[in-house]
Amino acid sequence: MIYKKNILCIGAGYVGGPTMAMIAAKCPQYKVTVVDINDKRINDWNSDNLPIYEPGLDVLIKTARGRNLFFSTEIEKGIKEADIIFVSVNTPTKNFGQGAGMAADLQYWEKTARQILSNSDKDKIIVEKSTLPVRTAKAMERILNSASGTIKFEVLSNPEFLAEGTAVKDLENPDRVLIGSRETEAGLKARNELVDIYANWVPREKIIESNVWSAELSKLTANAFLAQRVSSINSLSSLCEATEADIEEVAYAIGTDSRIGNKFLKSSVGFGGSCFKKDILNLVYICQSYGLNEVADYWESVVRLNEWQEKRFVLNMLSNMFNTVAGKKIAVLGFAFKADTGDTRESPAIYITMGLLEERALVNVSDPKALVNARVDLKDIKDGIDFIEDPYKAAEGAHAIAVLTEWDIYTKLDYKQIFDSMVKPAFIFDGRNILNHKALFDMGFNVFAIGKAPLKHF
Ligand SMILES: NC(=O)c1ccc[n+]([C@@H]2O[C@H](COP(=O)([O-])OP(=O)(O)OC[C@H]3O[C@@H](n4cnc5c(N)ncnc54)[C@H](O)[C@@H]3O)[C@@H](O)[C@H]2O)c1
Repeated sequence: MIYKKNILCIGAGYVGGPTMAMIAAKCPQYKVTVVDINDKRINDWNSDNLPIYEPGLDVLIKTARGRNLFFSTEIEKGIKEADIIFVSVNTPTKNFGQGAGMAADLQYWEKTARQILSNSDKDKIIVEKSTLPVRTAKAMERILNSASGTIKFEVLSNPEFLAEGTAVKDLENPDRVLIGSRETEAGLKARNELVDIYANWVPREKIIESNVWSAELSKLTANAFLAQRVSSINSLSSLCEATEADIEEVAYAIGTDSRIGNKFLKSSVGFGGSCFKKDILNLVYICQSYGLNEVADYWESVVRLNEWQEKRFVLNMLSNMFNTVAGKKIAVLGFAFKADTGDTRESPAIYITMGLLEERALVNVSDPKALVNARVDLKDIKDGIDFIEDPYKAAEGAHAIAVLTEWDIYTKLDYKQIFDSMVKPAFIFDGRNILNHKALFDMGFNVFAIGKAPLKHF
């Protein structure tokens, strides 16, 4: 098979796997290879048991795998062959030295840049797919152009806006695709090559072009704004609980204002996921390093509010369960950071489970897709924890249920059966506001939702 161009993606994670599967499915004229240092991940991508759960991903992979989509551990070979290289390695928060706990740890990023340089014998376009601090492309260019020679690298920024749980839908029909480049002749030529790839399925007006720094900063800004919406509504949920206003009524009332809009106004136990916290802290660090301390403090408060909301949830459980949960069984329904994913990175459920265990509760963790990751997150806990997929079994003999992920299945459980199997008084803490609180109260539960007056029988 003769392909138009060879595309390589370095990093076969939550972003690299699905994005490349979509490009391969929509562009059979390109050969797309995804490489990773993690053998197991690559084996899983080549199997029927994919390494991540996303609705529709298995079908998408089957469309292209073996045709023009390949998963491999042969990174150097992949680099040599490639005309266009997407870099989608992880960029976690740095946990050592200068900027620890805030700045992005760019060691994987830099290693990749050096590996590209040492294995290239023809011109290449390098695409930043990972989320990176603004002006990282400059560092990338410096490394790539450090060797004297005639090979030219053009660095583009093409941040990924997919949301886990809806990744396939988001990739197939994105709100926008953002492509940033240098505004030189070579930069614009490279930008056009990438535009041409996306234009195979994305309407042209949804492909936004910008300079490379705007593209880099837009991704951090998008995540900061999304997280800020969650923290804003969550901050007011506490006021609702104190005043008997209802956060859902307030959210509806303000969301009908077209200037505000109704998306991302769902109050909850807090946001999680691998990106929001890390990207905001990264933004905070960048602002600090430019001396913009007021801006840094403003954005940092979004993360602090989220941490407070998680803490508040545990304290609320404790105070309503007569100030002790020691020796009490609590069923945690949902461990993923959101529905329709098995991802538990930065999930509020981790913090809440740990908080309950510190209070010596006995926690049954339940989740339809995230128990493998939950076991890893809680691997150091020896006592007081059990992992039970069946929510009915997890709740049997429990004093309380805490709903921490908005899985649809939790809205459809037979709560009368669950109530009958629990210790009385039975408590339910709905950390996602997905249940019918009045019906649960009528069954006999004491019901505590986010941003609503409690419904209790005592
Ligand atoms: N997860 C999301 O929803 C999401 C959305 C948008 C953007 N992002 C950003 O995309 C980037 C990747 O995120 P992810 O969730 O896919 O991370 P991930 O941890 O799931 O995947 C990263 C992969 O890169 C591999 N890797 C690391 N160094 C490597 C190297 N030198 N060579 C080859 N492979 C290497 C790792 O083994 C891993 O499999 C991050 O910058 C993240 O902020 C993530």
